[in-house]
Amino acid sequence: MSSSLIYSTKEIFMQTILTGIRINSDLHLGHFLGVILPMTRLANQHSHDSHINIFVPDLHSIIGDIDGDLQRNIIDSLKIFLAAGLQINDHIHFYRQSYVPAHSELTWILDTVATMGETSRMIQYKEKSDDGKESANVGIFNYPILMAADILLYDATYVPVGEDQFQHLELARNLAERFNNKFGDVFTLPAKTSDQAKFMGQLDGNGIRIRSLTNPEKKMSKSDPSENSKIMLIESPASTAKKIMSATTDSVGKIQFDMFNQPGISNLLQIESLITNQPLQTIISRWTGETNYGDLKSQVATTVSTTLAEFQSRLAEISDDDTIHELLKAGEIYANGVANAKLLKVQKCLGLRD
Ligand code: TYM
Repeated sequence: MSSSLIYSTKEIFMQTILTGIRINSDLHLGHFLGVILPMTRLANQHSHDSHINIFVPDLHSIIGDIDGDLQRNIIDSLKIFLAAGLQINDHIHFYRQSYVPAHSELTWILDTVATMGETSRMIQYKEKSDDGKESANVGIFNYPILMAADILLYDATYVPVGEDQFQHLELARNLAERFNNKFGDVFTLPAKTSDQAKFMGQLDGNGIRIRSLTNPEKKMSKSDPSENSKIMLIESPASTAKKIMSATTDSVGKIQFDMFNQPGISNLLQIESLITNQPLQTIISRWTGETNYGDLKSQVATTVSTTLAEFQSRLAEISDDDTIHELLKAGEIYANGVANAKLLKVQKCLGLRD
């Protein structure tokens, strides 16, 4: 790792690929396949000519409950990317959201651009606030605007996230467009969600949604009380395999990729594709028409448990925190530089600065 923080003109104008993961509790297979693995693969592929921003949205974390120690979770969550195979170079930037105050400042400014209507239509807001319940905290409402600031401060073009975050990406795009219409080309618009999905290797343009193993109508979620619905990244191989072998499927009796009628089977095909890094179509062609669901389950159980076991042993080897602290130190200098320059441009547009 080099500590160089002086960038050439080419590097200053390189595109940015950015993502953030909240670390309120242990992460699961949905996080791993929805963003950690795709982001790691994209970073390794593009970091020679793109900035790769991986940050911890700690201000987003305080909106809800946090299991364990926030600082510990931050360090551990960044180690996860290293264990997933992220190759570090000068274009990989790790930072904590609250260490870059421009995020909060731009959020307030974007609050004056966003409307109550569009913000209250955000699905996650509706779910998390029990549809606008009076006792919900205002942070839940403001959450997507902070996320828009996270993205727009860095002119990020691609923002690898799971499908559940696509509505927030669209909001960020809309806010940027509205601001630009008034003040000129201040913000880079993040790519449309269908292009985001394609960039992540989802050629059908749909985002990644890993589903609950017990109720595949729903996404795999940390808040699901059913332990069998989710596989944690720290899950043992035996328990992982057992959960996949007992995953809910259907009574059709034939393997087909059909998220509507056979979401459980389709989920397993999707998981196999993402974890082996093979196109979904290749996996579908291999399995379509087969009638033994048990064969597919045992294939997926083997792939997932083996991959997680390898990942866990790499994670165990990253015992010291120093590498992450060093990366954060350099990353936060970089992030503050980029974010403050963008914020100043915005402030000047609004007359807040000369
Ligand atoms: P969060 O912390 O809820 O989830 C982190 C990432 O994991 C993805 N994910 C899934 N993907 C597929 N299937 C699933 N079952 C699944 N569960 C979780 C999420 O889509 C997400 O990509 N608001 C964000 C964090 C954030 C952010 C940002 C992301 C804040 N600012 C700016 C990108 C850019 C969140 O709460 O994700």
